[in-house]
Amino acid sequence: MGFIKKFFANTRKPQGFLGKLMVGGMNKGHAKCADWGMEHIGSLTPAAILDCGCGGGRNIKALLEKFPDAVGWGLDYSEISVEKTREVNKATIERGRCNVVQGDVSALPFDENSFNLVTAFETVYFWPDIENCFRQVFRVLRPGGLFLIVNESDGTDAMGEKWEKMIDGMKLYKGEELIGHLKNAGFADVDMNCKADKHWLAVCGRRP
Ligand SMILES: C[S@@+](CC[C@H](N)C(=O)[O-])C[C@H]1O[C@@H](n2cnc3c(N)ncnc32)[C@H](O)[C@@H]1O
Repeated sequence: MGFIKKFFANTRKPQGFLGKLMVGGMNKGHAKCADWGMEHIGSLTPAAILDCGCGGGRNIKALLEKFPDAVGWGLDYSEISVEKTREVNKATIERGRCNVVQGDVSALPFDENSFNLVTAFETVYFWPDIENCFRQVFRVLRPGGLFLIVNESDGTDAMGEKWEKMIDGMKLYKGEELIGHLKNAGFADVDMNCKADKHWLAVCGRRP
């Protein structure tokens, strides 16, 4: 595997020295799109938030700043991501507001009805059997809870296609495809927003 391909494989699962470089870079590189995506949370004031595929932990930090009364969990299957998320969220972890766990979205290690908001920034591209993963999210959401997916690629841009070719195991989705998978997993009030000039995509669904 060439160096460039090996480096970008760390977007799927950060590992080792290159993974450490990658998680820091993702925190900076994804921030603008993530903040745009968070605008689509709407009027919900969540008490408990889960950020799936939390990467370098910047987004769970931003969510806990946006919702100062909430408690948050970050989950990622990469040890490097979990370490970085703990470092970035040290202050809220010490205050008992943030928890970070190593785990796989395909078998979420949480009880049913645990969260009011579940987020997934730049990560569903890598989830195996996406409808099973969405059913896992559905299970851990409380009735009325929101699942927000934010992608920097809406599945129609040349840049996204370039990444898909570069990163093994990456799958781009168009908004309509994500909507279909969410509906099949049981979600209602499914909606999508696009920032057309950037090809950013935010899709959300609610557990009835
Ligand atoms: C491109 S990074 C995005 C990180 C962060 N959400 C952000 O926006 O910067 C994708 C992250 O999802 C994690 N991930 C991918 N598939 C996963 C799975 N099945 N379970 C848990 N984490 C997963 C990876 O380890 C990685 O940290």
